[in-house]
Amino acid sequence: MTDARPAIGVLISGRGSNLQALIDAAANPAFPARIALVLSNTPDAYGLERAKAAGIPTAVISHRGYGGDRAAFDAAMDRALREAGCQFLCLAGFMRILSEGFVEAWRGRAINIHPSLLPAYRGLDTHARAIADGAKEHGCTVHFVTPGLDEGPAITQALVPILPGDTEDALAARVLAREHDIYPKALGWLAQGRAVLDGDRALIDGKPGPVRL
Ligand code: GRF
Repeated sequence: MTDARPAIGVLISGRGSNLQALIDAAANPAFPARIALVLSNTPDAYGLERAKAAGIPTAVISHRGYGGDRAAFDAAMDRALREAGCQFLCLAGFMRILSEGFVEAWRGRAINIHPSLLPAYRGLDTHARAIADGAKEHGCTVHFVTPGLDEGPAITQALVPILPGDTEDALAARVLAREHDIYPKALGWLAQGRAVLDGDRALIDGKPGPVRL
């Protein structure tokens, strides 16, 4: 039987634990999306093994083959995603900055997961920076992808308290567990048309995001 659910492309660069959470969610036929392609920019990303184990098509498009031509690299990814019929896109630990043309082409249809309560701690090393600042609260965010890095409107967030004596690793592990919870939920809303990008805000069931989970 053909699977009529909307097709998702997932972009990864590494371990792929969020990809795994999406694979596990989509394994349930009641989940409103299916993963049609997992695309990595590095051939040794462990997430590729996870996809293969689940019988999901994979592709490797190495940015190294494009000599710094970001637009050409993104065009190759775009082609692969369209050929696989992808309607929506999930960035899951994808470590390349996307060109504006690519982001525009997928506007409102691409989401990312980030390990902080955006707009706090955009970029890397979010857990160490939050601990160093003496922050009491941290967490993760699923947001629409827009041209600015980690700047798109938030769909959902989960709050994770920072505990006395927390190490970067301990905090990262607690945040990651929440990432695995909120990312499939946000993808489900996107695929069902319940989460939409409306100008510079995310609407979830018609109300401005982020939804706190
Ligand atoms: C996650 O912390 C995610 O929030 C960030 O990159 C990490 C990817 O981890 N964007 P994984 O590859 O999903 O395990």
